[in-house]
Amino acid sequence: MNPKSKAIGVFDSGLGGLSAVKKITQIMPNEDIVYFGDTGRVPYGTRSEQTIIKYATQDVAFLMEHNIKMIIIACGTVSTVAYPFLEKSCKLPLVGITGASVKGAIKATKTKHVAIMGTNGTIGSGVFQKMLEDKGVKSLGIPCPLLIPLVENDYIDRPATRLIVEDYLKPVMDSDIDTIILGCTHFPLLSNVISDIMGPEVTLINSGAQTAQAAYDVLKRENLLNDNGGKHSFYVSDDPDGFGRLAGIFLGNELTGKVEKIDIENY
Ligand code: DGL
Repeated sequence: MNPKSKAIGVFDSGLGGLSAVKKITQIMPNEDIVYFGDTGRVPYGTRSEQTIIKYATQDVAFLMEHNIKMIIIACGTVSTVAYPFLEKSCKLPLVGITGASVKGAIKATKTKHVAIMGTNGTIGSGVFQKMLEDKGVKSLGIPCPLLIPLVENDYIDRPATRLIVEDYLKPVMDSDIDTIILGCTHFPLLSNVISDIMGPEVTLINSGAQTAQAAYDVLKRENLLNDNGGKHSFYVSDDPDGFGRLAGIFLGNELTGKVEKIDIENY
């Protein structure tokens, strides 16, 4: 098989990775995509490092069964907690959300002070903070675990969601932070709410979109861009109907392609 014709493998703990898929389809409409959302085991962000590594290893093993040329880790928790581990064994280009998001934030910040919103696992890992601080940028990590179930349940622009976001962002309001990394791929859906609260002078970095762009750069560099595909396949570990219903919110349009349930414990 022509390596260019192979699909891009994308995985997340659930629906959030679709924010990367949305951007992939915009900038690379001719790429086949195989997506796995671990809807039966979401959330990852409250779990131990050992469990996150185990889950991520199984997710990668599943994707490897499909004819893929690259893996996008469209999950903040896996990208920060398990990336070094996955990198050791993965033979394909592996793109996580951290590098591209940090690059975007460094470009955007004028005050050299950046906040990161993420899961407990992502913020606890300190990976984003270290990457920013290595570039001379001050950072503030904000664990926002309550926002994941709100987004997964389509509780987006609701008063309750707004109150919780406001509470999480209090330390940012009292600071000179001018850029926030949405370090969880679920959070771009809350962009409007966050922007309303923070005002237009604070730039939001959409980790899913940044990652899709980084993946494009890698495929272009490796001469692996496809000009003849565009088929999308979705797999989940539970409730394919629920995934299909909510996917539209992330993608901005109806899901194209079928959703299939698989048993991820077999991997
Ligand atoms: N997409 C995951 C992340 O970016 C969602 C959170 C979770 O599974 O806890 O970390």
